[in-house]
This record gives sequence, structure tokens and C-alpha cells, in this order.
Amino acid sequence: MWESFKAHQSKIADRSILDLFDDDRAADFSVNIGGLLFDYSKTNIDTQTRDMLIKLAQDASLKDCRTAMFAGEKINETEGRAVLHTALRNLDAHPIVVDGQDVMPDVLQTLSRMEDFATLVRNGGFKGQGGKITDVVNIGIGGSDLGPAMAVLALAPFHDGPRCHFVSNVDGAHIADTLKDLDPKTTLVIVASKTFTTIETMTNAQTARGWMAGQVGDPGAQFAALSSATEKTAEFGIDPSRVFGFEDWVGGRYSVWGPIGLSLMIAIGPDRFRDFLSGAQAMDQHFQTADLAENMPVLLALIGLWHNQVCGYATRAVLPYDQRLSRLPAYLQQLEMESNGKSVAMDGSAAETHTGPIVWGEPGTNGQHAFYQLIHQGTRIVPCEFLVAAKGHEPDLAHQHQLLVANCLAQSEALLRGRSLDEARALMVAKGLQGPELERQAQHRVFAGNRPSTTLAYVQLTPFVLGQIIALYEHRVFVEGAILGINSYDQWGVELGKELATALGPILSGEQSSKNKDGSTQMLINFLTK
Ligand code: F6P
Repeated sequence: MWESFKAHQSKIADRSILDLFDDDRAADFSVNIGGLLFDYSKTNIDTQTRDMLIKLAQDASLKDCRTAMFAGEKINETEGRAVLHTALRNLDAHPIVVDGQDVMPDVLQTLSRMEDFATLVRNGGFKGQGGKITDVVNIGIGGSDLGPAMAVLALAPFHDGPRCHFVSNVDGAHIADTLKDLDPKTTLVIVASKTFTTIETMTNAQTARGWMAGQVGDPGAQFAALSSATEKTAEFGIDPSRVFGFEDWVGGRYSVWGPIGLSLMIAIGPDRFRDFLSGAQAMDQHFQTADLAENMPVLLALIGLWHNQVCGYATRAVLPYDQRLSRLPAYLQQLEMESNGKSVAMDGSAAETHTGPIVWGEPGTNGQHAFYQLIHQGTRIVPCEFLVAAKGHEPDLAHQHQLLVANCLAQSEALLRGRSLDEARALMVAKGLQGPELERQAQHRVFAGNRPSTTLAYVQLTPFVLGQIIALYEHRVFVEGAILGINSYDQWGVELGKELATALGPILSGEQSSKNKDGSTQMLINFLTK
């Protein structure tokens, strides 16, 4: 299957993307769903290639896979679990049945408990032992950190609750630097861990409790937990009224829509949190109903497969021209790489082709002054995914927003057009150069161009729009995984390192010998424990 795609690609690889543009291309190779415009016309995809890609999705029974996911079938086959983060934003509450039971009553009851608690924290009805809560510290890692950390930053203009902080790293520096300016008497600590066993989170939670215990009579009273493991939260001393659970059909990296989003809800308020859920729900509806050729997540995924599996571009850059989306690349790294970084198909056989790409990125315009050199003139091609808003949130700084937009558009234009040797020569002539020096200098100023990019444009970064964007990327991962035939919802690849780290504890503390370790690890242990 991939071979026929590669054969097709090799025939069209060298053609000019710019030459594909006629009066209709921009409209034909973009999707506008009102408030969100996805432009993929600056890729080497034409009607024939798009038709082939859509057929690929059809041949993989994408529609049936999609129905199975939304219906709560156990598509996470290696863990025997449904994949139902979409239920957390099913605000219409239509029944979704797992193991013979409608999950929606519990989902809505938890949402309403979160709303009550968030409201009390925000209005001072829930107090710390020194008065109204001024600061919230979310302690979690991976999916129990990246979602709320990314979203709280993204929605800063909507904050009207206490300040929110995020501690994830087991490096004591992270929690020490976070707590040092906070008052334990007015701080709420939220321990976010689905399993309530993750070593980083539990270690930081103990540290936070120790910090609080020195200052307040009943530290447990200023803790809440976001976890399914109620026995463990009780052991930790957190009252069940402040424990918000979720089911095993919510994967960690898909969990921001439920209890794991509590810090976001406290920051922006329950109504705006519902707007965030509504945005995601709108994307769910679009994904389920739009034709494949007009379906934003499907197209985003097919373009991803085209670039990675067919063209062989190993990475993709996510480049938000939106400073408040500065954690989006990190969020998407977990979402995409933990989901689709697999080597075996669902049945355990070796994957037919490369699976998920390496995802990386930074906000523009900062990236322009760092790594864009390679993107424009390096020997490797990096498909770029730009994101940009029509409007910022700073009306007084509209001129800065205009500059931001100009830079975003300039980058995708430069990638498309490039600069020819003749244009570079003309520049050197204008500088007064001639002869061999002109030729030498001109070569360095050539941009090959013809490099693919997509742009996701939105009106303004609101809770609704953020919900749409995150759900868009979630469904992209689903589509890519379904077509690749892999399980996007387990993460066995994180286990080995955890096991080895646990085993290294007694060696580092000197209780056990390092003699069974390899030479490199032994040398490092010696150096680090001297
Ligand atoms: O180690 C990976 C992982 O299991 C992620 O999938 C998850 O988001 C993270 O750890 C945190 O897990 P937990 O919420 O159980 O602490």
C-alpha cells in the first residue's frame, strides 16, 4: 500500500507547489468551519493525491473505527479499555454505554462537583487556614500536568481566579522554586494523578505536605486529589469530598476535559470551562459528520501521513504565532508521540511502516531567530504547522499583533517561494559584488523553497477555540493511528525506564552494589555518588 504511494510521490516530488496555484486552489485545499480555517494549499497535494489519501482512510474503515471509538467500544485492545475522553465533553448527555452502563450520569455528576468546588475556591467559600485561596499548585506529570499547564497559560486573558502553578519534575528545584514565594496558609495543592502511584507526583506531593505541615494545623484540609485511586487518596489523607475521579477509559494525555482540568476551571471559572468543553464538542461533531474530504482532523492526519510515511519527513514542527500557546508543542509531543510512537500493529506484528513522527516546536517569532535557518536552508525538510489568530487580546498593542501575523505569513510564503539563484545574484549585484565573489555569496543566499507548510488560523484564542484546537489534534492522532493499524491508547514504552529507575534507588544510596550494571552506568554511578 505505502509502496504505491511512494511511487506516486516520486513522480511528483520535484514539481513546484507554487505552480499548483490557480484561482481556486486556496479555497479547494482549505477547510473553513466558521472561526477556524485550516489551509493546506501550501503542500504538494493535488486532487489526485488527496483522492488517494482519502481512499487510504476508506480502505482502513476509518468511519467504522470512528463509530467504535465514540460508541465506547474497547478499542484500546492491549489494556481492554474504551477510549472515551469525548464523553467528558458530551454536554448534551446522550447516553454512552460501557459494559452495559451509561457513563454520562457519573461524568456530569463529577463535572457538577468540580464546578461547586471551583466556585467555592474562587469566591472564598472554601478557605485556607489563612483565608481566601490565593494560589493553586497542581502537582502532576505527563497528562496530569501538560494539559492544564498548557491551557491555563493559553487562556491567561480569562483568568479571574487564584494564581495557578504547576509542578511536575521530580527535580526538587521545581517544587522548591514554585513554593518559595507562596503562603501555605492560602495555597490549595491539587495532586493530579490518575493512578496515584507515579513516583514524581507522589514525591512532590509529600514535599508539599511537609511544607504545609510546618505552617498550618491540618495540611490535608488544603489538598485536593484528581484520581481514580480513591483508596490511595484516602491513605494520603485527602477528604473524599475533595477527590475527583475518572474512569480508566480516559487516557492521561486525553484527560484535560475532566477532573485533570480542575486548575483550569478554578483559573477561568466553570462557565468558561464549559465553553472550552463546547469547543471540543463542536470539533467532535464536525469530525463525526463532515465528509472525509472536508473533515479537518481527517485532512490534518492524512497530510501528516503524506509527509511522514510517504515523503519520509521524520519530524514535524508546530509553530504557534501565539505566545500563550508556548506549551502547545510540549502538549502535542505527549499527545502525538506517546500515542503513535509504536513499533507493532494491534495484532503484535511489526508495524508495516514508520509510525508517528517526531513533533517539536516553539512559538514564532522566537523560533525564527533560533532554528528556522535549518527549516529554510538545511538539507532536511521539516513540514511546518503554523497557528495564528486574527486578533490578539491586547487592543492597545494591535500593531504588535499585526507584526506577528506578518511574520507568520512571511514564513509560510518564504517556505513556498524560496529565493532563486538569479534573485540572489541580483541582490549581490545591488550590493556592488561581482565575479567569483558575487557567485560565491549568491549561493549562500539561495532558498530552495517548495517546502510544505499548513496554517491553522482562528479568530481569537478563547476557551471555545482552544477546545476546538485540542480536540482537532486528538482526532488527528486517532485517524493516523487507525490508518497505521496501531494502538494509539497504550504507552508501554514508558515502563522500562520507570522499572530501572526504581532499581537504581538502592544502588545510588549505597545499599546495593552496581556490579551487575554495564560499564557506562557503573562509571556514571561512581562519578555521581562520589
Ligand atoms: O509515564 C507516562 C504516564 O503514564 C502518562 O501516560 C501519564 O499521563 C503520566 O504518566 C501520569 O500518570 P498519572 O496520572 O497516573 O500520575
